[in-house]
Amino acid sequence: MTKHYRTAKSGTVHALDEISLSLGAGEFVSIVGPSGCGKSTLLMLISGLIPVSSGSIKVGAKPVNGPVDATGIVFQRDVLLDWRSVLSNVMLPVEIKGLDQKAHQRKAMELLHSVGLSGFEEKYPSELSGGMRQRVAICRALVQSPGLLLMDEPFGALDALTREQMNLDLQRMWLRDRNTVLFITHSIEEAIFLSDRVVVMSARPGKVTEVLEIELPRPRGAYTRSDRKFVEYIERVRRCFLAQGILSEA
Ligand SMILES: Nc1ncnc2c1ncn2[C@@H]1O[C@H](COP(=O)(O)OP(=O)(O)O)[C@@H](O)[C@H]1O
Ligand SMILES: [Mg+2]
Repeated sequence: MTKHYRTAKSGTVHALDEISLSLGAGEFVSIVGPSGCGKSTLLMLISGLIPVSSGSIKVGAKPVNGPVDATGIVFQRDVLLDWRSVLSNVMLPVEIKGLDQKAHQRKAMELLHSVGLSGFEEKYPSELSGGMRQRVAICRALVQSPGLLLMDEPFGALDALTREQMNLDLQRMWLRDRNTVLFITHSIEEAIFLSDRVVVMSARPGKVTEVLEIELPRPRGAYTRSDRKFVEYIERVRRCFLAQGILSEA
């Protein structure tokens, strides 16, 4: 699959080159790559928000030709609606799609409970911290039990400690529900910590340069970060970026 953008100013931008990637059901896959290598583009292509230039994408058994119903998306900015309560933000996709309110409300409450937001249902986004807002955004993406969860640097705007906690929370939710997840991040550590597989991309035009199977036992915790294997995986990804000139030795 490839993607070109046509622009008035700079002509054609070759964003993604010959990307071939397949996710197993229930698999957690991360993509790491330098800024501008086409990570967000890839996510928008998979969700059907923009069309491919050549090749094809399938979600489940269905080719993607337009916005895909069976995916939930979480962006770096939480894009909550400030005038709606926490619960009604989580229920937004249910309302838009006209799904059964009662059944989904129960699901929404369960999700909020599972991320420690019981009691916050009637609060407004402005009353929450950044980490809490992003938790609400994740609940909203999961409320209709999507087969595929797409996450575009969801924790990029959070401080380091909150981010580490969000990694643990996300892992717990994933271990419970086993959604298929495609997770985009700048952080090599975060990718390795969370994933079954880490896909390393090169600078523009984005290509897959390496795929690592992460064989660390789950659940992973703070101790995982000092595991010798964990540190070796980090080194391997760093070497990919060194080889591409994206990182330098000193
Ligand atoms: N709508 C667009 N029109 C033209 N070029 C775009 C558009 N969106 C992204 N690009 C370009 O495509 C490349 C990949 O962008 P993006 O997918 O946002 O990268 P990443 O998420 O990895 O930082 C960049 O060079 C970017 O400038
Ligand atoms: Mg991006």
